[in-house]
Amino acid sequence: MPTSVAGAIDFHPLRPRPEADAIEIVDQTRLPHEWLTVRIATADEAAHAIRTMQVRGAPLIGATAAYGLALALRADASDANLGAARAQLLATRPTAVNLRWALDRCVRAVESLPPSARAAAAWREADAIAAEDVTTNRAIGEHGLRLIEHLAAHTQPVQILTHCNAGALATLAFGTATAPIYLAHEAGITVHVWVSETRPRLQGAKLTTWELRARGVPHTLIVDAAGAALMRQGRVDIVLVGADRVAANGDVCNKIGTYEKALAAKDNGVPFYAAVPSTTIDWTIADGAGIPIEERAADEVLLLGGDASIAPPGTAVANPAFDVTPARLLTGIITERGVCAPGKLRTLFPE
Ligand code: MRU
Repeated sequence: MPTSVAGAIDFHPLRPRPEADAIEIVDQTRLPHEWLTVRIATADEAAHAIRTMQVRGAPLIGATAAYGLALALRADASDANLGAARAQLLATRPTAVNLRWALDRCVRAVESLPPSARAAAAWREADAIAAEDVTTNRAIGEHGLRLIEHLAAHTQPVQILTHCNAGALATLAFGTATAPIYLAHEAGITVHVWVSETRPRLQGAKLTTWELRARGVPHTLIVDAAGAALMRQGRVDIVLVGADRVAANGDVCNKIGTYEKALAAKDNGVPFYAAVPSTTIDWTIADGAGIPIEERAADEVLLLGGDASIAPPGTAVANPAFDVTPARLLTGIITERGVCAPGKLRTLFPE
C-alpha cells in the first residue's frame, strides 16, 4: 500500500490492461487496511465491482461501466448483447448519473458499427472517458484553487470541510472536491481539512483520510454531527463536496448528510460549493425531486463497521444513501468550465 503519494496521479483506482483483455481496479472495501487490486475481465465482474462498491464515486462508476461494456463486446458484439450489457451495468446503482452517461456514450460510439469493430471502438471510448476525467478534474481543481487562494489571503490555514469521498479514489485522478485542495497544498497554501466520517459506510473515515494522508494534506476526522458545531465556532472557512447527480436547476444530490452540512453552512455564513464535472449534470431532470435516491441494506446501519451490532435485533432501518441539497443553499458550483451560481449552469454549458 503506498504511504506517500507525490504529484498528481501516482495511485490509480482503475488501470486499463488491454493486453490482458481486462482492467485492474482497487478494491475500496479493503481500504484503509489493504491496497488490493482486482482484475475485471467481464461485464459481470464490472457490474459486481460497482454493485458491491469495490469501485464507487460517480466518475469512477461511469468509467468502470464503460470498460465493462467494452469487455462485454469482446465476448459477444451482437446488438442483443450490447443491449443486455448496458442494462446489466445500468442496474448496478441508481443515483450517480455518470453511469448512464458513460454507458450511453459508449453505445452511441458503437451501435452503427459492424459487430467486428465494436469491441475496439468501445474500448477507445472508455479510454477517452477515463482520460477526460483526469483533465476535467484538473480544471475543476484550478477553478476551485482561486476560491482557496482568495480565502488564504485573509487566513491560513484555510479550514475546509468535506463530506464522503469525492477524492482521487472516486475518480480517475485528483478527485473533484479534493482537486482544489491538492492544488492549493502543492502551491504552498496551508490548508487543513475536516473530514466527516460519513456514516454508514464511512467513506470519509476510510477513504478520504487515506488519500489526504498519502498526499501529506493536514486533516482531522470528525463524526458527521460535528460539522455544524465547527461551523458555528468559526472553524470552517469553506465547505467543498462532490455530487452524484445535479439537476438542471442546480439542486445537488450527494452522499447522505450533505444537505445538513449545507443548512449549517447557510446558517453560519460559510461558503458551500459542490465540485461537479459536467458528466454529473442531468439536464433531463428539472430539479432535485426527480433524482432517484438509492436505498441501501439495513445491515449497513445496524452493524457498525460491518460487524458490531448497535441496535436491538429487528429494529426497523431506513438507509437512504444520498440526499438533495437545494440550489438556494449553495454558494456556487465548481465545474471544469469555471464557477457559477447554482441556478446558472447553462451559462457555462449552453444547449
Ligand atoms: O456511495 P458512494 O461512495 O459511491 O458515494 C460517493 C459520493 O457521494 C461522492 O461524493 C460523489 O460520487 C462524487 S465523487 C467525485
